[in-house]
Amino acid sequence: MPVDTATLRRRCTEEMDATPRGFGDAAWLRDAFLTVPREHFTPPRVWWPSPREDGLYSLIDRDERPNAWLKAVYSTGAPLITQMDDGLIPPAGPAKGAFTSSISSSGVIIELLRHLAPEPGERVLELGTGTGYTTALLATRTGPGTVVSIEVDPSIAERARHNLHSQGLDPLVITGDGEQGHPPAGPFDRIVATASVREIPRAWLEQLRPGGVLLAPLDSPLGCDLLLRLTGTGPGIAHGKFMEKVHFMRVRGQREPRPYADLGWPEHLEAERWQELRVEAGPHGQRIINPAPQRPTAHTARAERPLP
Ligand SMILES: C[S@@+](CC[C@H](N)C(=O)[O-])C[C@H]1O[C@@H](n2cnc3c(N)ncnc32)[C@H](O)[C@@H]1O
Repeated sequence: MPVDTATLRRRCTEEMDATPRGFGDAAWLRDAFLTVPREHFTPPRVWWPSPREDGLYSLIDRDERPNAWLKAVYSTGAPLITQMDDGLIPPAGPAKGAFTSSISSSGVIIELLRHLAPEPGERVLELGTGTGYTTALLATRTGPGTVVSIEVDPSIAERARHNLHSQGLDPLVITGDGEQGHPPAGPFDRIVATASVREIPRAWLEQLRPGGVLLAPLDSPLGCDLLLRLTGTGPGIAHGKFMEKVHFMRVRGQREPRPYADLGWPEHLEAERWQELRVEAGPHGQRIINPAPQRPTAHTARAERPLP
């Protein structure tokens, strides 16, 4: 019996409604999720993101296992891996490699777009087009002629263009380095990255209009990315805080680790108090501010007293 994908989307929506991190009061996002066919954006062969016992990632082939493929497409919690090792590994069977592109999990995309909160007619810049699925949800909200999306991998960008245009959506998909943004279309009301960075690129800050919102996963010393929401407060300057713990693929140009101290992180960080951190980013780089540094405990306070 053919599977009705509208029913799968509805079930998936109900599942996300039941979680505290679901659509919240963003009714537009629930509508967009119900409208955009996720299966249209998902390549016919994808890898499941958890390894098998032998360490390889299983390939799910739509033509061989259509039901398993659709189930994976509409699972809320898992991204589906669409590229490994920048495309050096063909999607021909189980494989092991670095994940370099995916269709992000529905749960994470919903979270991202809920925090981004774009309004109809606003100009949006997206970095890391991938399949174009997130781009489609955005364009459904902001309308024709509003979304610019940049993808570094030419073949992925080409596929995303096709995916979007064949759904009657018109985002401008640019093949290039998203870290540079796209000045001719700026300034933007919203900027969203679906690949993480170690440092917010200056070009994004320069292309964000004052009052606009920039949302990006920022690598942190906590062993995960933290979803950073910045508001433009002046030309090339933005302030904000972290919203969620997330895991994203890194942008190509920032894969190499750098010392956190060089990236504006404080020396002492209390892992459980990450929500209290404040961030400022501007022409001189980014600074993560600990507004309430740990007060000395009774033990350390005693140790600091001069010995009698
Ligand atoms: C997690 S995937 C995005 C998935 C997308 N949200 C979706 O659901 O289809 C991250 C994408 O960022 C792209 N990327 C990495 N570095 C980039 C860069 N410097 N500029 C633009 N895109 C980049 C990768 O090629 C990959 O396609």
